[in-house]
Amino acid sequence: MSSRADTFNTSETSAIEQIRADFPVLKQTVHGKPLVYLDNAATTQKPQQVIDAVKNYYTHDNANVHRGLHTLSERATDQYEQARNKVRDYINAASSNEIIFTRGTTESINLVAQSFGRSRLKPGDEIIISTMEHHSNIVPWQLTCEQTGATLKVIPISDAGELDLDAYKKLLSKNTRLVALVHASNALGTVNPVTDIIELAHAQDVPVLLDGAQAIAHMPVDVQALDCDFYAFSAHKAFGPTGIGVLYGKEKLLDAMPPYQGGGEMIRTVSFERSEYGQLPNKFEAGTPHIAGAIGLGAAIDYISALDFSAIHQHESSVLEYAHQRAADYPGLKIIGQAKNKISVLSFVLDYAHPHDIGTIVDHEGVAIRVGHHCAMPLMDRLCVPATARASFSIYNTHADVDALFTGLDSVRSLFG
Ligand code: ALA
Repeated sequence: MSSRADTFNTSETSAIEQIRADFPVLKQTVHGKPLVYLDNAATTQKPQQVIDAVKNYYTHDNANVHRGLHTLSERATDQYEQARNKVRDYINAASSNEIIFTRGTTESINLVAQSFGRSRLKPGDEIIISTMEHHSNIVPWQLTCEQTGATLKVIPISDAGELDLDAYKKLLSKNTRLVALVHASNALGTVNPVTDIIELAHAQDVPVLLDGAQAIAHMPVDVQALDCDFYAFSAHKAFGPTGIGVLYGKEKLLDAMPPYQGGGEMIRTVSFERSEYGQLPNKFEAGTPHIAGAIGLGAAIDYISALDFSAIHQHESSVLEYAHQRAADYPGLKIIGQAKNKISVLSFVLDYAHPHDIGTIVDHEGVAIRVGHHCAMPLMDRLCVPATARASFSIYNTHADVDALFTGLDSVRSLFG
């Protein structure tokens, strides 16, 4: 266990102070108040270690990968491939060939929808998603359905924001070709019972893609233990840079899939008559990749790996529990998303103020939250709310941050309540 793993085992104050010291952006005031950053589901802040890794690459090693025999290109290639190996180990993939660098979760899902989906689906085939999906796990499948004649089926949810597993069992049929499901909901925090979902799908030979955008920074992800067929996530929601993400896919599936984009890097030979494609993972990485991003993601993985996930979970759960307690007796507040198993997300509405007003007013208190439909419009329709206010917590948030949110809400109440 690394030295940082004990961080959470000291008192909350000193443990979190140590963590917070790594995040330079947190040391500022907004509208004259100390910044309280509660928009971690949109993007997490970056520790100095990640900032330094990106800066170091551009300062000393900047070159293109896989192309030159010169020293800088070798250094860049080594670091880029090391980052891939770090991702492999972090999610326990069987091989680095199963780790494709993409722009993020959205591109990872689009890759599967276009390459796997478009090449295999035909009229009458079905893809199962759920009511709580982010638009990035809805629209790519709608595009594929338009192109192939396949149909989308949607697992309903309860008022608490949990999947209806009986309905899922009924939706699974001989026509199902893929289940694409969010691991943890960005808008509600719900953690889905993905092991059961995968087992049921596999019993019918149906592969499963998990959208891990929100899960990746909050729980250990072991793709072999889960036995998922695809897993998509973004670096920027796990302390890494924006514009870089990962598609994990089982090698057998990725091998059989056609390329998603054509260009340099992804070929073996090219002539005007025909081109022969490269091996995994290059086959899916056309063009110059986001080298600095991958290196930054590697540094983010080093950072999070040096902490202890059970301690992270314990800390974030205690902050969430406190937020739920404060929310429970707050006048006119309704929590949206009351699943038993949640990541640290508090979505809510106030019966006297629109979420956009809540967001603006708490921002004046230095508190950053996200308001809106959270790229989950069908979910908002199901829960009969146009939008919510959402506080999403990370490893550096404290009980005092929750208090700051509620002080901000007091200002909302005094204006609108
Ligand atoms: N999907 C991100 C969020 O939930 C942007 O905020």
